[in-house]
Amino acid sequence: MAYGALSEFVGALDRGGDLIRIREPVATELEITEMADRQMKAPGGGKALLFEKPTIDGKPSRFPLAINTLGSKRRMALAIGLESVDELAHQMQLILKAKPPKSLREAWSLLKQGVDLLHARPKNVSDGPCKEEIHRFEKGDDFSLHDLPVLFCWPKDGGRFITLPMVYTADPDSGERNVGMYRMQIFDGRTTAMHWQVHKVGARHGRRYYEKNERMPVAVCLGGDPAYTFAATAPLPDGLDEVLFAGFVRKKSVELVKCETVDLAVPADVDFVLEGFVQPGELRDEGPFGDHTGFYTAVDKYPVFHLTAITHRKGAIYPATIVGVPPMEDFYLGDASVRVFLPVFKMNFPEIVDMALPAEGVFHNLVFVSIRKQYPYQAYKIMHGLWGMGQMMFSKYIVVVDADCDVHNTSEVLFRLCANTDPQRDTTFIKNPSDSLDHAPNIPNIGSHMGFDATRKLPSEGYNRGWPELVRMDEQVRAKIDALGLK
Ligand SMILES: Cc1cc2nc3c(=O)[nH]c(=O)nc-3n(C[C@H](O)[C@H](O)[C@H](O)COP(=O)(O)O)c2cc1C
Repeated sequence: MAYGALSEFVGALDRGGDLIRIREPVATELEITEMADRQMKAPGGGKALLFEKPTIDGKPSRFPLAINTLGSKRRMALAIGLESVDELAHQMQLILKAKPPKSLREAWSLLKQGVDLLHARPKNVSDGPCKEEIHRFEKGDDFSLHDLPVLFCWPKDGGRFITLPMVYTADPDSGERNVGMYRMQIFDGRTTAMHWQVHKVGARHGRRYYEKNERMPVAVCLGGDPAYTFAATAPLPDGLDEVLFAGFVRKKSVELVKCETVDLAVPADVDFVLEGFVQPGELRDEGPFGDHTGFYTAVDKYPVFHLTAITHRKGAIYPATIVGVPPMEDFYLGDASVRVFLPVFKMNFPEIVDMALPAEGVFHNLVFVSIRKQYPYQAYKIMHGLWGMGQMMFSKYIVVVDADCDVHNTSEVLFRLCANTDPQRDTTFIKNPSDSLDHAPNIPNIGSHMGFDATRKLPSEGYNRGWPELVRMDEQVRAKIDALGLK
């Protein structure tokens, strides 16, 4: 199912009893964070919040602000128009089943065929709701980023940050589009930082523009169908189009409209479009920022985004999130990605049963994977395979368990980890790229990663004591007690 605007999705959340409207003025400086954080820490992710009167430096904003709209399993499923994210994973699996792909790239070309069957390829249109109001800055328009209710999230942040931006760029050589979510610190009404980390596709496009010494056109979308937001955060391989993926997710073509001042096209039904450019070589201090890791990320140099225009819908809603000490809204976005791409991992590694990235690990720090083990050292094959696949390269700790362990139950995984491992025998260290946000390594972006083989050990792995049996109740007794209706 497709939503024609963020307001449609917010309406669906409201009707489903999953939204709290806050009619009183609340400050975009820290106060919205405090309220949103309380929801995000509530069991299951709390409710979405719509601030009808956010204030900016004490003055009312023209635009309402929605937050935590994707912060629960149910809301994430509603965002993609399904009962559960697993249904989308199932659809993905059906497409891939015809001819098991040998790589993510091959999986993608199959997915493209599936998109064709759904008639969900992007379409070009000449106009759209995102242009209901157009502010072109070369014409002296005084609208600016200060008109948007952009959050000052945490007390020691370096400024206000746009936290749910979908950043559109193009490869200057091939013209291939990329959409990534990279936060943007506001420097002034017309300038922001562009926080694409070194491993991300936006940064790669940027490097090519710098090498060619050409100005890089950039368009940033806010709002619209939540499927767009999901697609921007999904770890798709470089060169694979997030807009096409969004079409697959929403089962409807994304309608693309040309920007006013840059040579890029964006979905016509988003709430805001910020158009502009990045100038080769121009870097500026970005941060500090209270980050996904739960710590403040230190100041670092990032490219500068100069705005040339802002266009928006009439009645646009400004979308935001906060990140910080987990669990936060981003956990549900990450979890949905893992579920949807699990069939691709399984195609590459058929022994994989399930996978989870628990909230405590903030995406990349901790991965639990269960496998149907058939041969010695299979757990290590899985670790190395995952460390070689796209953004899974960042996984700091990978714990491999047997198929009968529920990886979504952290307590059960820790039980297996502690019980089934001999620390020296069952661990391995590797060197790999690290997530830019990881403050633990001595040098940014590189570090060691550790794998734990918490599976049962085989004689062929040198274990000859006979692996003990897990204590379990007799099935007949369980059935009898179940029948008594006792818990
Ligand atoms: C709320 C949120 C904020 C994010 N902020 C950033 C960011 O500032 N910089 C970054 O490089 N990645 C950030 N990410 C992760 C990227 O969006 C993600 O890795 C995405 O797959 C990158 O797309 P790309 O592979 O097309 O570059 C964020 C993710 C979420 C969910």
